[in-house]
Amino acid sequence: MTWANPFTLTRRGVLGMNSRNVEYIGRYNDRRHYPLVDNKLETKLVVGKAGVTVPELLGVVRTQHEIELIDDVLEPFQQFVIKPAQGSGGRGILVVTGREDGGFRKSNGDVLSLRDVKRHVSNILSGLHSLGGRTDVAIIEDLVICDDTFAYLSHEGVPDIRLIVFRGYPVMGMLRLATTASDGKANLHQGAVGVGLDIGTGRNIAAVQFDRPISHHPDTGAPLDEIVVPHWRQLLTLAALCYDVTHLGYLGADLVLDQRRGPLLLELNARPGLTIQIANNEGLVPRLSRVELLEEHSRDPGVRVEFAMQHFVHEPYRPQRSFWESVSPSDTQEDTQEDTQGSTS
Ligand SMILES: Nc1ncnc2c1ncn2[C@@H]1O[C@H](COP(=O)(O)OP(=O)(O)O)[C@@H](O)[C@H]1O
Ligand SMILES: [Mg+2]
Repeated sequence: MTWANPFTLTRRGVLGMNSRNVEYIGRYNDRRHYPLVDNKLETKLVVGKAGVTVPELLGVVRTQHEIELIDDVLEPFQQFVIKPAQGSGGRGILVVTGREDGGFRKSNGDVLSLRDVKRHVSNILSGLHSLGGRTDVAIIEDLVICDDTFAYLSHEGVPDIRLIVFRGYPVMGMLRLATTASDGKANLHQGAVGVGLDIGTGRNIAAVQFDRPISHHPDTGAPLDEIVVPHWRQLLTLAALCYDVTHLGYLGADLVLDQRRGPLLLELNARPGLTIQIANNEGLVPRLSRVELLEEHSRDPGVRVEFAMQHFVHEPYRPQRSFWESVSPSDTQEDTQEDTQGSTS
């Protein structure tokens, strides 16, 4: 991978880390609102009240004492996910797809004992996976079952859809597919695949794994060039609505398509990563500027979505040199950056 000079990157409209932090996060995200998105339990409760659909909350574990009772809490459920409320980047998320031999089966087929699960929850409470190592609580939520249309793409985990929402307008999107490497989670730096999506149609653009272009799913061999995400407008509208709830101007929304319930919001991020630009073969800056130049901003998420679908249509870029070769890894690093920088970035 070669390093492009800043001039080349700017010309292509690629948003870099510094510019993201200063000109967008710094300017449009009021820190007072961070606690809401940095805590998945808070997010769930608040956006849920505003009409944003989320995976059902099955339980919360807050103390070591409650860990001892977890068998009772889990008893009614065959499938569930346990995650740290303040986790990020897929860390500490345990996806249980069924019960087997008195234990809990993970998406890769491994079976965990009750003791393993208790240890996992204990680690969550001690802050092992959480922002800044703060003590945390464990959320137990319903397992999202992948929509039929994605079944062929959902190897060992449900795909998620990341949308960047700027001042209420969904400006760029990416589908993330779990892989064996990513252990049932669709987080890029865990080894998931990112597929850029056209905002106008929900159709695939380009695909990357570990910041490199790919054409097929690395585990299943499924082609990644014939994807159209269903319920696309509804997904965009849910994401747009999150702006009205959080008042965060620069926001990453992670959504999933559940077979039974349709689009659901998984979590929000106040410091979304920049790799989405590689998966889209396009930089964010022109789209962000387009929104900044608007004289009037509609309060209606539906109107903002309509605008986005009209204007943020993918235009194939034909560089003289490969786009991939011109983007520096540090400029596009995904979740690790958004996670480690904490609320102080
Ligand atoms: N309820 C769930 N059902 C199925 N998979 C889930 C669920 N929650 C999370 N996951 C998987 O884990 C990934 C990360 O979850 P997320 O809630 O976005 O946390 P993080 O902040 O760590 O990214 C998701 O993209 C998805 O693949
Ligand atoms: Mg996420």
